[in-house]
Amino acid sequence: KRLILVGPPGSGKGTQSPIVKDEYCLCHLATGDMLRAAVAAKTPLGIKAKEAMAKGELVSDDLVIGIIDDALKKPSCQKGFILDGFPRTVVQAQKLDEMLAKHGVKVDKVLNFAIDDAILEERITGRWIHPSSGRSYHTKFAPPKVPGVDDVTGESLIQRKDDTAAVLKSRLEAFHKQTKPVIDYYSKIGVVANLHAEKTPKEVTVEVKKALS
Ligand code: AP5
Ligand code: ZN
Repeated sequence: KRLILVGPPGSGKGTQSPIVKDEYCLCHLATGDMLRAAVAAKTPLGIKAKEAMAKGELVSDDLVIGIIDDALKKPSCQKGFILDGFPRTVVQAQKLDEMLAKHGVKVDKVLNFAIDDAILEERITGRWIHPSSGRSYHTKFAPPKVPGVDDVTGESLIQRKDDTAAVLKSRLEAFHKQTKPVIDYYSKIGVVANLHAEKTPKEVTVEVKKALS
């Protein structure tokens, strides 16, 4: 399957991704995770992306389209993929369509993590992540077995620099202005499944599986 996960910051995209990946053996491409890795490694891409990310603004279309174009060529992504956090602008969606059209394929489903903005601050400020795997935890809703430590590897968890109430405001603004139109774009071709992302992680998983069955 070729899937897109779209929703505001903290809506649960990264939480549901591994479950979808295990169920359907897809390659999981999260542009946010890839960009954070590039920033940490101080690559040319990371240097260009750092400032926009810190402010909660979107990185330029050209940069992210380049990352996805490269990643989709990997053998592991040929049978299907989950895009988490891409496309986030209509330009990105149009470019993705062009890339897929070259291979004679299309997006099968867009999972829309619909949720009220008011719930997101608590989710974002309580989040801890394991940077190398992208796994996320929450101090209240999904605590790790040992505080501050990844359940699987035993490595330390960190908080994202953009996970503050102030930066969340800009991220939400970017979502409403630039990413909501992407949902309309896919609605027109009838591939959007709306999820109740305010429910518990397990309940959301049930909805995800239903949408994909
Ligand atoms: P990105 O990393 O994509 O961040 P985001 O879209 O803001 O989304 P988040 O990762 O914050 O939320 P999520 O939905 O994954 O939530 P999670 O499951 O972790 O992007 C970061 C930045 O990179 C952007 O601001 C931009 O600068 C740049 N960028 C990335 N892609 C780009 C693109 N295509 N174009 C341009 N720029 C781009 O859950 C959050 C917390 O809540 C966790 O603690 C979790 O445990 C908890 N939780 C999850 N589900 C539930 C639930 N059901 N109930 C209770 N708690 C829950
Ligand atoms: Zn995420």
